[in-house]
Amino acid sequence: MLLLAIESSCDETAAALVDDLGPADHHWRVRSSVIASQVDIHREWGGVVPELASRQHLRDICGVVERALDEAAARWSDLDAVAVTRGPGLIGSLLVGVAFAKAVAAVHRLPLVGVHHLAGHIESLALHNGPLPLPAIVLVVSGGHTSLYHVPEEGRFLLVGKTRDDAAGEAYDKVAKLIGLGYPGGPVIDRLAGAGDDRAVEFPVARMTGADRAAGPERGVPGQFAEALKWRTDFSFSGVKTSVLRYVRKRQEAAGWEAASGAPAPDPRSVFSDAEIADVCASFQRAVVTALLDRTFAAAKWFGARSIGIAGGVSANSRLRADAAARGEAAGLPVFVPSLALTTDNAAMIGAAALRRLARGERDALDMSAEASLAL
Ligand code: KG4
Ligand code: ZN
Repeated sequence: MLLLAIESSCDETAAALVDDLGPADHHWRVRSSVIASQVDIHREWGGVVPELASRQHLRDICGVVERALDEAAARWSDLDAVAVTRGPGLIGSLLVGVAFAKAVAAVHRLPLVGVHHLAGHIESLALHNGPLPLPAIVLVVSGGHTSLYHVPEEGRFLLVGKTRDDAAGEAYDKVAKLIGLGYPGGPVIDRLAGAGDDRAVEFPVARMTGADRAAGPERGVPGQFAEALKWRTDFSFSGVKTSVLRYVRKRQEAAGWEAASGAPAPDPRSVFSDAEIADVCASFQRAVVTALLDRTFAAAKWFGARSIGIAGGVSANSRLRADAAARGEAAGLPVFVPSLALTTDNAAMIGAAALRRLARGERDALDMSAEASLAL
């Protein structure tokens, strides 16, 4: 079974060819994976501009798919199915991939499989590591999402916690902007934090102990643990971001700037030394990683998980990986992460999730449409 997968939910146009080798083998093999990143276009604006993103997907998608076929030395006639990210994401961006995949399915008479973007991130774990010991607790942490899932069996994902405000990757990006480090912020902060003192500044680690007024009906697992989880597993990252902002403002004011004057604030790089910037990065990163892992390991305990998975763009973070491995070892729990190439948005993970659906006999009709806030 050879499948073409397409991903265009945000600012990466990606295509991959993935093979299903059957249950006796490692399951899935990536034959090619091509990613056209738009990061240089959006950097100028300090974040993803939806309209620019969808236009760039249109320019890139044909070339990206052709290259994925070439690199796998495959022809259109070799394909057995086509898959695409249906949501969630930017609607204009999603539509480009969905329209393209539907056209391929219609012209070549192939089964069409729509995939949830986060199911793709979760399956990147099995794609890289093989099947995880189940039940597992999986943290999906990216620029758009910070969600915790209980995975009782393969392909079944139950939401047990999520961020009440910013996603962790979004907090990295916003903090990087605040201290003048550019976009995207995650990789830069990760690198600079290595040279900093993570105890230099006490940024708060949010603990969600109040009632969850924002909880929707989709949250929690019916029956056991639902009550405990409702109170204990949510994330919040806007507090730590605001406290970095206050820290920066205080230094700018100490340097003679008056907020009320209407004058532009001085460049953070002019009021902090390189060593201080590194300290802020390290301290911020400690707060975020601690918050992520505290809840992930707590949930693993409540659910009697046999493994932990961490996926999504932020799972590339060096401290998150190191601390998760150390805590996993101490708790006797194996911790799985994807390869670095599979952490940020890619189509190979979408292919893996699609092969799982196909193996269960699931597929979609040609009237399938993109959905900006698709539920998993
Ligand atoms: O999964 P992804 O490519 O896109 C979304 O679905 O959002 O994740 C992108 C996010 C960005 O916020 C980026 O800053 C963050 O992942 N990121 C990192 C690192 N590499 C990427 N965050 C922390 N440390 C990193 N090394
Ligand atoms: Zn993603």
